[in-house]
Amino acid sequence: MPRTPYIAANWKMNKTVAEASEFVDALLPRIAATQNDVVICPPFTALAEVVQRRYGTAVKVAAQNMHEEDSGAFTGEVSAAMLVELDVEAVILGHSERRQLFGESDEALARKVPAALAADLEPILCVGESEAARDGGQTEEVLERQLQADLAGVDGADLAKVVIAYEPIWAIGTGKVATPKQAQEACAYIRDVVGMRGAARDELRVLYGGSVKPGSAAELLALPDVDGALVGGAALDPEDFAAIVEAAG
Ligand code: PGA
Repeated sequence: MPRTPYIAANWKMNKTVAEASEFVDALLPRIAATQNDVVICPPFTALAEVVQRRYGTAVKVAAQNMHEEDSGAFTGEVSAAMLVELDVEAVILGHSERRQLFGESDEALARKVPAALAADLEPILCVGESEAARDGGQTEEVLERQLQADLAGVDGADLAKVVIAYEPIWAIGTGKVATPKQAQEACAYIRDVVGMRGAARDELRVLYGGSVKPGSAAELLALPDVDGALVGGAALDPEDFAAIVEAAG
């Protein structure tokens, strides 16, 4: 069975509740006919609003982070159970901004990914190399290290439930999109590494993220091992995001 394209909007720290609801109202009619998986990842404060607005549509809602424990003295954090209670279906884990700016570690991710799966939240695990690592020829080494560490606690049979986003750090928010060759090679490599750990290779969905725009989306999404996109900047505008959903076919 072909893999269903998966297009996710990572809003990062953007959009108030009012802005989020305006976006969803503008987006829904534009993507009414799509068969793709469309996922919106608002900030915590707008999750409930987006969940309410999308009921009855195919749009899924994801958080941008969560804590691995169920509850406790973790000021400022949110648990899987709290997300599930809101009818959130997925969660981004290990985005490079969390790794770089907030000290998210592979050790924490090794606990977060199984915690999300145990709560029936679909993890969208982000991996990707820095510019220095790519220039130094270490892209595959970095990807393998992150994948092995972050997925260490996930059984082979559950691995294909994890969506992996290949997000080269040098391409995020820079306007410097990976070439189709770079995106294809990295996404194929990710499929191989996770496949070797026992994932159903053909079911695993691997996304590309990093400066995806309506103009570059179709070429990237047509690559054999790129199953979708994690979109930041261009996902703040409903027209641009709808165009990317459409470009996925
Ligand atoms: P960008 O962000 O599309 O603005 O580069 C992508 C991401 O960080 O997920």
